[in-house]
Amino acid sequence: MDTSFSTLIRTASHEQHTEAETSTFMSDLLGGGLGVDAYARYTEQLWFVYKALEDGMERLADDPVAGPFIQPELARVPELERDLAHLRGEDWRAKVSALPATARYAARVEECATGWPAGYVAHHYTRYLGDLSGGQIIRDKAEKTWGFARKGDGVRFYVFEQVGNPAAFKRRYRELLDGLAVDDLEKQRVVAECKAAFALNTGVFRALGEEFPTAA
Ligand code: HEM
Repeated sequence: MDTSFSTLIRTASHEQHTEAETSTFMSDLLGGGLGVDAYARYTEQLWFVYKALEDGMERLADDPVAGPFIQPELARVPELERDLAHLRGEDWRAKVSALPATARYAARVEECATGWPAGYVAHHYTRYLGDLSGGQIIRDKAEKTWGFARKGDGVRFYVFEQVGNPAAFKRRYRELLDGLAVDDLEKQRVVAECKAAFALNTGVFRALGEEFPTAA
């Protein structure tokens, strides 16, 4: 079996990717069927998840397994905070709250960040490589649907100012995955954690779908 790990993890999570992509909430959001309030609520949930991803970064920077993945140009929390100030007002912090599904997701990320660096890589991959890919489609739709300035406040989360060439970045990222410094059994566990990460995302979408049902 000479399949590279980057191919393995992509293939193994393909089904869950389709499930997340076609979830009712995502379809409604991208189909223009939801108000900006739903988009703002979703952005709030992302803030909790990225706080968990990025609070662990400094500690993991020197880790032999997760360290190579820690790249400051990926940091999303500052962007999410600017978006939330735009979407919810300067006092957004006083109003923000995590859905139970989001709290579960963030708790799992934190658990990996503090105790299982290879598991953290699974969460890192699931979010950042996705943001660099499908995230651009979401940005485009959001700009058109709710009238945000192109790459401006409201959609900064999707704009990686410091990643000059996303395609090249993704290629390099896949090389990092292929060089993941763990044995085969641990790689299988990382794949399983990636699937769990997708399921946690889908759980957040489900909860958001319940909070923002569409008439159709
Ligand atoms: C890759 C679209 C939601 C995680 C991609 C790619 C597209 C895409 C077109 C392929 C990019 C390429 O081949 O370079 C979308 C759309 C979404 C969505 C339209 C929502 C409507 C999600 C979600 C997640 C996710 C919710 C997980 C949280 C990923 C990952 C990759 C990816 C990890 C990289 C796969 C790899 O090459 O290894 N997405 N996506 N996506 N997406 Fe999504």
